[in-house]
Amino acid sequence: MKTHAHIVGWGKSVPQHVLTNDDLARMVDTSDGWIRTRTGIAERHIVVDGETTFSMSLHAAQRSLEVAGLNPSQLDLIVVATVTPDYAFPATACLVQDALGATRAAAFDLSAGCTGFVYGLSVAANLISAGVYENALVIGAETLSRITDWSDRDTCVLFGDGAGAVVLQANGAEGGVLSTVLGADGSGGDLLCLPAGGSKHPASHHTVAEGLHYLRMKGREVFRFAVRTMPAATREVLEQAGLEVSDLNLLIPHQANQRIIEAATRLLKLPSETVFSNLERYGNTSAASIPIALCEAAEEGRIQRDDLVVCVGFGAGLTWGAAAIRWSAPLPPVPPSRWEKVRYQLRYRYAALRSLVRRFLRWLFALGVKE
Ligand code: ACO
Repeated sequence: MKTHAHIVGWGKSVPQHVLTNDDLARMVDTSDGWIRTRTGIAERHIVVDGETTFSMSLHAAQRSLEVAGLNPSQLDLIVVATVTPDYAFPATACLVQDALGATRAAAFDLSAGCTGFVYGLSVAANLISAGVYENALVIGAETLSRITDWSDRDTCVLFGDGAGAVVLQANGAEGGVLSTVLGADGSGGDLLCLPAGGSKHPASHHTVAEGLHYLRMKGREVFRFAVRTMPAATREVLEQAGLEVSDLNLLIPHQANQRIIEAATRLLKLPSETVFSNLERYGNTSAASIPIALCEAAEEGRIQRDDLVVCVGFGAGLTWGAAAIRWSAPLPPVPPSRWEKVRYQLRYRYAALRSLVRRFLRWLFALGVKE
């Protein structure tokens, strides 16, 4: 019997702090009118001190596990798609693995810009359908505000922070992730780039003085690339699944610019109600944008059981990708009982204690080695 990867849990986490267009107009030479008409964004959520890609990933992961009713120790794989990990290494996925107490899980980060979540979904779904793993957690999470030049009006009005997660589970039933397509064109790498902090320009006084630790973007070129790519990837992923655009119940595009979303909608000849957008409230959260949108669509009743959903993204690399999903989880999900919630909290406390004990033992053994 063929195995399929089904989405059985989902969750999101965004910082509480909201930055409006009017707030931005007090920081740089811009206006609410320009930002709304050119991008469709009204506000975005921004981290405060102490919040990071890891902390948002963890909250989103915990919610998705609760929806799935899954114990973290049942996870085989954790993928965090991000271009703003807490550290270059260790991987943010490993921090999540430790905090969840996902003791059996392999964990790694994946860098594919705003397409990262679709890349992660594809990798995890294919490992599940190949029979390698049974349960996988895929997170898209970003703290773009920490690599944004807040004096550059060309970019700072666009981005926000957040995280979204899904739990994928192996099942013999038809449905789940039906097909995925991934693509890349490195010749456009310079269009979206974080110049410093890697092996080419390690962090130095010079890189900081030159602002090379901030995201750089050639907006118009990225815009043209996005309008071309999203409809093509959507058609291709549907064709691979033996379906057509007219079969689609909901398109969840990467939330970068409302004009890009509308152009893709027109080119695909889709009615606007078939295309999900929450860009107005979050801005572009890069790899987090599709999973956050997927969670909201599920929460708002925009997805029903057996619906055909396509997630499609584009981003730094350049990269693009799409996933066709036959939604199989019951909606709304059954909320965990009070006792189940307590059990999850106890598990996370136990995971924190376990982590502490392991660090202590490592320290103790190191002392022994010195002697
Ligand atoms: N406020 C007011 N005016 C502005 C602002 C601003 N915030 N930003 C630019 N302008 C001005 C420009 O200076 C320019 O003025 P000029 O005509 O006098 O030269 C004018 O507005 C038009 O600028 P354009 O760059 O042509 O504006 P455009 O309509 O292309 O919109 C935008 C710019 C919003 C960046 C658009 O190109 C876009 O959305 N591109 C795609 C970006 C994207 O999707 N990135 C995703 C990847 S993120 C990742 O992977 C991490």
